[in-house]
Amino acid sequence: MNDNRPVGLFDSGLGGLTVFEQVVNMLPRESVVYFGDTANVPYGGREVNELVELGDRIIRFLMGKGVKYVLFACNTSSSVSIGILRERYPVPMIGLVRPGARSAVAATRNKRIGILATEATVKSGSYPEAIASIDPAVQIFSQAAPLLVPLVEGGRVETPEAKKALGAYLAPFREAQIDTLVLGCTHYPFFAGPILQILGEKVAMVDPAVATTAEARREIMQRGMQGGESQPRYEFYTSGDPEEFNRLAGLLSTRRLPGAIKVEI
Ligand code: DGL
Repeated sequence: MNDNRPVGLFDSGLGGLTVFEQVVNMLPRESVVYFGDTANVPYGGREVNELVELGDRIIRFLMGKGVKYVLFACNTSSSVSIGILRERYPVPMIGLVRPGARSAVAATRNKRIGILATEATVKSGSYPEAIASIDPAVQIFSQAAPLLVPLVEGGRVETPEAKKALGAYLAPFREAQIDTLVLGCTHYPFFAGPILQILGEKVAMVDPAVATTAEARREIMQRGMQGGESQPRYEFYTSGDPEEFNRLAGLLSTRRLPGAIKVEI
């Protein structure tokens, strides 16, 4: 028996598309409901109580869509609100931080790991805590990058201003001689090309979405919840302007995505 209820994904905006990509590849028989909270993006400068409140409304919305499992496609929410929201709702949830931390520890050779993330994620200390619980000998260098999310949400990924911002944010990592960088925000894989150029190929780049989706797949199987759709349904919702969401999603994703529907949450 298959469980064809959808998997729920959410982010502050378009960053979660990098996670959606992993889900489509690794869970090809699952339908997905995606919510992008573009009316409230960016999340990175928000306080804990705001992030919990926004997350709460989104989970309620996703549950209304009948999701069987929620994958937080947002590091900020995975760092700040998942613990509280797990207590409130019966649906299983997975965040990006623990799987991302495990991948980073597995990748590092010199035990010097960089975390590039939003201000809220850096402030939460989620990655250092998760990494220290696996290997306390690892040294962690964190850098908040508040300019990057607005660049993605404004459709300005491949611009000189993006290069300049990345140069400034990544300089401390070069100095610290990290050999592994965690892309600790789901918007950042859109900058993977220039990051690789700046840091060089010797630095391993970890996108937590890869290990998180693999873990979600294991958990869904263990719970006997796997879907069996030959043509899974993908639904997109946004709290912001759907036309703008669709325009930017078209630029950022290589897939043809269904148009997003506007919802108030
Ligand atoms: N993409 C989200 C993250 O992974 C949120 C970024 C933001 O809105 O600041 O942290």
